Amino acid sequence: MDRILLLNGPNINMLGKREKEVYGQFTLQDIEQNLEQLVSSHGFKLESYQSNHEGELIDRLQLANGNYIGVIFNPAAYTHTSIALRDTIKAIETPVIEVHISNVHNREEFRHTSMLAPVCYGQIVGLGLTGYRLAALAFIEKN
Ligand code: DQA
Repeated sequence: MDRILLLNGPNINMLGKREKEVYGQFTLQDIEQNLEQLVSSHGFKLESYQSNHEGELIDRLQLANGNYIGVIFNPAAYTHTSIALRDTIKAIETPVIEVHISNVHNREEFRHTSMLAPVCYGQIVGLGLTGYRLAALAFIEKN
């Protein structure tokens, strides 16, 4: 098994147009291409999925179980609210790294809490696109 899943939640498909001062200029496609290159240069495969719907993210995580070496997950706003996603991450064996483009800790207070981090393998915040790359490297070096 040599696959990594890149999973992005609501509004991540709007990167490049959305709050550029917070999230930068890069698009979801830029993230996908960048990670694809990184991961394939180490002999691994990348699959990518984005959804604005909580249930679809849950379905994708359940399907991922046992089929990937890890999931790089930016749950976006669901980070701060979703007990359902937390239960799913807890229920599956595949490790999940939570990634945030922005530093959620220097933003509004409601972004300081993650429902998901306690059940994730790790968490990376505030490093932009580099955060996704570091998560990929963490799974590559672990395997
Ligand atoms: C985000 C941070 C979340 O608080 C926010 O709701 C997002 C993006 C980030 O990548 O910085 O949509 O996950």
